[in-house]
Order: sequence, then C-alpha cells, then structure tokens
Amino acid sequence: MRVSEAIKSRMTIRQFLDKPVPEETIREIIETAKRAPSGGNLQPWTVHVLVGKPLKALIEDIEAKVQKGETEDPEYNVYPPELVDPYKTRRRVVGQQLYDLIGVPRSDTPGKLKQLARNYRFFDAPVGIFFVLHRQMEIGQYADVGMFMENIMLLAREYGLDTCPQEAWARWPETLKKHLSLADHEMLFCGMALGYKDESAVINELVSEREEFENFVTLHGFEE
Ligand SMILES: Cc1cc2nc3c(=O)[nH]c(=O)nc-3n(C[C@H](O)[C@H](O)[C@H](O)COP(=O)(O)O)c2cc1C
Repeated sequence: MRVSEAIKSRMTIRQFLDKPVPEETIREIIETAKRAPSGGNLQPWTVHVLVGKPLKALIEDIEAKVQKGETEDPEYNVYPPELVDPYKTRRRVVGQQLYDLIGVPRSDTPGKLKQLARNYRFFDAPVGIFFVLHRQMEIGQYADVGMFMENIMLLAREYGLDTCPQEAWARWPETLKKHLSLADHEMLFCGMALGYKDESAVINELVSEREEFENFVTLHGFEE
C-alpha cells in the first residue's frame, strides 16, 4: 500500500466487527510504528494493549460507574475551555454531521451521551490501546506521541484494519490507573480502538471535512 493510499483511506471508525486481531499483527504494527521520530529520540511513550478479559473487565468497570452516575476529574482538558473560531465551528460541524448521520436530533442530549459512552466500549473493537507518558513531558513530547499514533493508524490500513483515536479516555484517569497498573508519574494521554471496520454501520460513513489549501498554507518565496 502506498503511503498516500493509507493516509487517504484512514478515517475514524466508530463501529467495529467482532473479529479478533492476531497478536502477531499487533506486534508487527507496533514494531514498525516505533520507528516514528521523536525529539532527541526520547521515544516518550509507553503502550498498553488490551484484548479479551482485561478489555472486558475495563469496559464493565466503566459501564458500572456510568450507571451509578460516577465521574472522575479528567486528566487534562481535551479542548481549550474557550475554543475560538475557526476551531470551534469545525468541532461543532463534525459533531453535528455525526449525529445527523445516526439520526440523533440536536436536542436529544441523552442520545448524544449514549453515543459518547460507546467510546468506553472501544466501539466494540477487539483491541484497545493506551498511550502513556511520563508526567514530566512537555508539548514537544505530546507531538512525538501523536506521530507514533499516526504511524499505528496508517500501518493498520496496510493490514486491512481501522482505528479510532480516543481522547475520551482522559475522562477516566483513576480507573485506568488501576486497570493498567500505572505509577503516579505516568499519565494516560490517549486511547485507540483497533479492529475490523463494520462496513454496514452508517456511523462509519462519516467523511470529515478539511480546510482548503489556500486557507491554511502560506507559500513564501516561490515566485522569486
Ligand atoms: C488525538 C485524537 C483524539 C480523538 N479522540 C476521539 C474520541 O475520543 N472519540 C471519537 O469518537 N473520536 C475521536 N477522535 C477522532 C476525531 O474526531 C477525528 O479524527 C476527526 O473528526 C477527523 O475525522 P477523521 O479521523 O475521520 O478524518 C480523536 C482524534 C484524535 C487525533
């Protein structure tokens, strides 16, 4: 698969098939993805991969907490509290497109929360991945982890797999600390669902928009 093909075919998938991913495939993907660059070659990530019983135990634990109305203090703000435009609009648009697609009306808050909660089932994917950093890390290292995660998402395409990166997991730091046996200095940054796309699921038809080249790129010195 060409890199451009992997990039163009990667999209966030929010409904997976109940079909296991071989351990060998997961190992190969991560082995290759670890060639991601990182400033100073810090490789500032540790990774937890869950399948089977530990995955089920985590999902059930969160489900029980949600049912009891329990919440945790989020590990970090996923978005700035006062998000400005054009970012605010982009966020609203993609959210609205998603809910329109699955037939959840604008006013249906419980319906939206129900969809949000599907994050905590990894959208039924058979594999859940977590990316963890030392709390000491700065902005640069978060970019490094992003590149590593993108490598995984693109390599997944080569194996016929799909992914959903999930910052939603930052809302459950205490539960994840327990399930992943994290040390105090370890911070849960992001989760990722990995598996085979359910081709029949409407939710997987969402093709998110991108800004026009001219609106975000400034070319310097090309006509000199
Ligand atoms: C770091 C990161 C975290 C994300 N977290 C979530 C999440 O928790 N739940 C979710 O449904 N989508 C999540 N997304 C997916 C974005 O909504 C998605 O990438 C964006 O709308 C663009 O769509 P596309 O990935 O299909 O191109 C996340 C994406 C990134 C890069």
